[in-house]
Amino acid sequence: MAARKPLSHFIDIDLVHRTVEDKFQLQDAKVLGEGMCGAVFLVKNPVGKTDFAALKVFTGKRESDSSSSSNSDHSQERAEKLFRTEVNVMRQCQHPNLMPMLHSVRMADSLCILMPYMSGGSLNRVMRRLTLQQARRYFFQIADAVNYLHQKKIVHGDIKPSNILISSEDQAVLSDFGLSKCVPNYRVEVFVDHGTRGFMAPETLADERVNPFKVDMYALGVTLWAMTIKKKPGPSVDYLHHVNRASLTPSLKHLLESLLQKKPSLRASASQVVEGSLP
Ligand SMILES: Nc1ncnc2c1ncn2[C@@H]1O[C@H](COP(=O)(O)OP(=O)(O)OP(=O)(O)O)[C@@H](O)[C@H]1O
Ligand SMILES: [Mg+2]
Repeated sequence: MAARKPLSHFIDIDLVHRTVEDKFQLQDAKVLGEGMCGAVFLVKNPVGKTDFAALKVFTGKRESDSSSSSNSDHSQERAEKLFRTEVNVMRQCQHPNLMPMLHSVRMADSLCILMPYMSGGSLNRVMRRLTLQQARRYFFQIADAVNYLHQKKIVHGDIKPSNILISSEDQAVLSDFGLSKCVPNYRVEVFVDHGTRGFMAPETLADERVNPFKVDMYALGVTLWAMTIKKKPGPSVDYLHHVNRASLTPSLKHLLESLLQKKPSLRASASQVVEGSLP
């Protein structure tokens, strides 16, 4: 069996262009989104068959960061960590509903990942006008991707509508692996210390060791809840209360209830969702 290539083989080092602006002409590029990593730009695709691609540029800067040098060191460390984690997951995975990597580049001034441009934008944008049928279809596409990750012992760590993108073929694609974790031993339970408020399972707030796969399933449940109940998730929202009061089909209610169980042991796993064998 061929030895697995070290991570550095997957990251090009660009010695020709001085800055990322120079290489991808970012001055005029449209910003597709901004977040914890930095920003995502729409650029001309230098490597693929399509005209455009999305370029994620890692700066690791948060709005709250001041410009002091120690904060800038922290930003660089954070950017490096998010970048390496994301590249590491993307290079291991191949699934129609997981964001692939076209290329990754280490430049003198920044770290970037080039990926296919998803012209439908994020699920957040279209959520309010989704029919129940569309919501179910997107949900099961993402559940299949999450099942694939979990079978590979990878936890996504930040499942939410803004990390789900819609392709020009109307497929839901799970993206943003900056908070992912490889958990090679299924029995090991790791403490999850970050995610997005409102999407984090109740057990993560208890400051104890948790099963991170079940934490992903809760976030997937909140995502389905937001797509079908059409309300904004939040840390003090009683999701099951809204499910009980909503006029949904019994099977959709059962699905939501199995994902939003407060007790992780009662919560559905990704394989149970995909195989239709809910607890
Ligand atoms: N491939 C893409 N095609 C189109 N838009 C994209 C693409 N990748 C990202 N975006 C847009 O950029 C936003 C931020 O991307 P991403 O989630 O990868 O970055 P982030 O900095 O980790 O964000 P956050 O901290 O908010 O989770 C997405 O919500 C989406 O709107
Ligand atoms: Mg994101």
